[in-house]
Amino acid sequence: MIATAPLRYAYGMTETQTLHVDPLQPEPGAIALAAGAIRAGRLVAFPTETVYGLGANALDAAAVARIFAAKQRPSTDPLIVHLADASQLERIAVHIPPVVERLAEHFWPGPLTLVLHRGPQVAPNVSAGRETVAVRVPAHPVAHALLAACGLPIAAPSANLFSRPSPTTAQHVYADLAGRVDIILDGGPTTIGLESTVVDLTQTLPVLLRPGGVPAELLLDLLPDLRVPAAPMVAAEGEAAASPGTLLKHYAPCAAVVLLRGDAAAARTLAQAILDLLHGAGLRAGVLVPDEEFALYAGLHAEVVGLGPSSDHMAVARYLFARLRELDSLGVDVILAREVAAGGLGTAIRDRLFRAAQGRILDVDIPVDLASWLEPVLRRDAG
Ligand code: TXA
Ligand code: MG
Repeated sequence: MIATAPLRYAYGMTETQTLHVDPLQPEPGAIALAAGAIRAGRLVAFPTETVYGLGANALDAAAVARIFAAKQRPSTDPLIVHLADASQLERIAVHIPPVVERLAEHFWPGPLTLVLHRGPQVAPNVSAGRETVAVRVPAHPVAHALLAACGLPIAAPSANLFSRPSPTTAQHVYADLAGRVDIILDGGPTTIGLESTVVDLTQTLPVLLRPGGVPAELLLDLLPDLRVPAAPMVAAEGEAAASPGTLLKHYAPCAAVVLLRGDAAAARTLAQAILDLLHGAGLRAGVLVPDEEFALYAGLHAEVVGLGPSSDHMAVARYLFARLRELDSLGVDVILAREVAAGGLGTAIRDRLFRAAQGRILDVDIPVDLASWLEPVLRRDAG
């Protein structure tokens, strides 16, 4: 009943309505309904070209607070503001450096997020109290239609429960957020499959905060000074405020993930030894490998899932989070995943796998006492 919905909201629950929309030409009626919900301070999940976002009016602090509550996200981790087009930038950011115009021309709409100085209209909790604001113009027709119809900037993190794999389908959103989001616009699976690249332009030199859909290599022409960390940045627990979004545990399925680094044949041998240990401990295992290694794992005590061909980073990125969720739904306790080479989109894939594994990497060339290395995983207290 519509009249009781705000009251139930106060108690943290709502009726979730899924609206199917054509991903290329979304139906105006559904978009109008979703835009009305945004204007009324409610939550709408919508597809972007990267992953699904959980959106609220970025100018309304109470609406934004609902995002944090729905996701169980720490209030120290700031959100990205989405705009219909770059001409609205001045509504939400100030002291915009000149390079932004050229970046916007090249990469917007698209999977690039820029951290700028926050304008006074933006609800402070969007930025977790910081003086900066992250902004992007998404390319997905449904996201664009929603933004244009509501006429507001929309703050939206990925539409998953905090620290889980990002959602690339409306079903993933529903699985995590049913009863916590008012409307889900179902525009089918997203195409890029992992999140936008985040670049901070508020420091002396531009800094890559998160590798994503736009490979850092493509940014260097316009941002020759871009500082690109050699290895994934990791914020210590409780340090999130200094380095938001770089927590070690992120994008993680329920199963404990272990990455296998090194030569394919040696990794297969190592996997066999690990699977024997897991089997002995009564645990179920999954294996996530590039398609060309799939046959190597036939006949093992494990659910084997292909990542896509390792030469096709776009295919691997598109289905990565869905594969992790699929392995969870198969009921495995542990996932052995092959590490992916850095470079291009591979850097973002590697970063997501590293965090899904909470940094647990076994290098085939470095001998370890497997039983003690795996002990936390075997005890199932690996988080
Ligand atoms: O592709 C994407 O970026 C998706 C879609 C929905 O747009 N959104 C997304 O949002 O991935 P989220 O909240 O899951 O990730 C946002 C990242 C986090 O790492 C956050 O810490 C960082 O951006 N971020 C947001 N605002 C920031 C700020 N003011 N300063 C530094 N980092 C910021
Ligand atoms: Mg996220």
